[in-house]
Amino acid sequence: MTAELIDGKAFSVRVRGLVGAHVARLAAQGIVPGLAVVLVGEDPASEVYVRNKGIQTREAGMNSWEYKLPADTSQEALMAQVAALNADPAVHGILVQLPLPKHLDSEAVINAIDPSKDVDGFHILNVGLLGTGQKAMVPCTPLGCLMMLRDRLGDLSGLNAVVVGRSNIVGKPMAQLLLGESCTVTVAHSRTRDLAEVCRRADILVAAVGRPRMIPGDWIKPGATVIDVGINRISEDGRTRLVGDVDFDSAVQVAGAITPVPGGVGPMTIACLLANTLTACCRAHG
Ligand code: GUN
Repeated sequence: MTAELIDGKAFSVRVRGLVGAHVARLAAQGIVPGLAVVLVGEDPASEVYVRNKGIQTREAGMNSWEYKLPADTSQEALMAQVAALNADPAVHGILVQLPLPKHLDSEAVINAIDPSKDVDGFHILNVGLLGTGQKAMVPCTPLGCLMMLRDRLGDLSGLNAVVVGRSNIVGKPMAQLLLGESCTVTVAHSRTRDLAEVCRRADILVAAVGRPRMIPGDWIKPGATVIDVGINRISEDGRTRLVGDVDFDSAVQVAGAITPVPGGVGPMTIACLLANTLTACCRAHG
């Protein structure tokens, strides 16, 4: 058996099309959603992400602002930047690109963002709203994963979902979202005993550990839906390439459906960022 590929790239085009159509309707009322992205320092990978976010934001018809601050920016200066964006009614979404340079307190910065403009869903208020099943800004990567799961499986209730990884950005919010869909959720991590056995129980397996090809095909239940969040840059045969947390070549023989890397979860993350910005704009305008 060979798994069906879940084409996140094509799905993201559809989502961005829907967002763009809604943005066009708002434009007729003189409303333009706007996203401000703050980048501190010159991390090359972050610069690529931020550039792509800007391009796709503008393509969807929204306003996009990029604030590039030097690596030695002080906590006070960054907090002042966030405060200015909070106060600007044209800005509906604020994203501070992570990781921040080590001397900065990321938690304090994130929690200084107006929760209604927190399109990352990282503010403690949004974390609490999601955890209690209330209307929240939902982190973009798990939101994209959930959209793909719903699209493939329809009703998720009663399914065994295993999330491998417990990060605040992906693992924990993913588990909350799956619980919200009435899945039976297990969150596994580096200390989990007999991880292979835990994974084999999963109807839905979400891998978000950041370790290249850690999950082989024989850890996967036949027919399971596998969502690979990992984006790991490795050197192989003298060239660099991107691989997921799942060993794709063996997993594709066993799974019912699987997201490829690249072209799976990655493109959905930015599409969901645009969707969250649109949501924030609509809520701001009542
Ligand atoms: N760095 C890597 N992924 C993300 C993300 O989703 N949001 C932010 N703010 N920074 C990131």
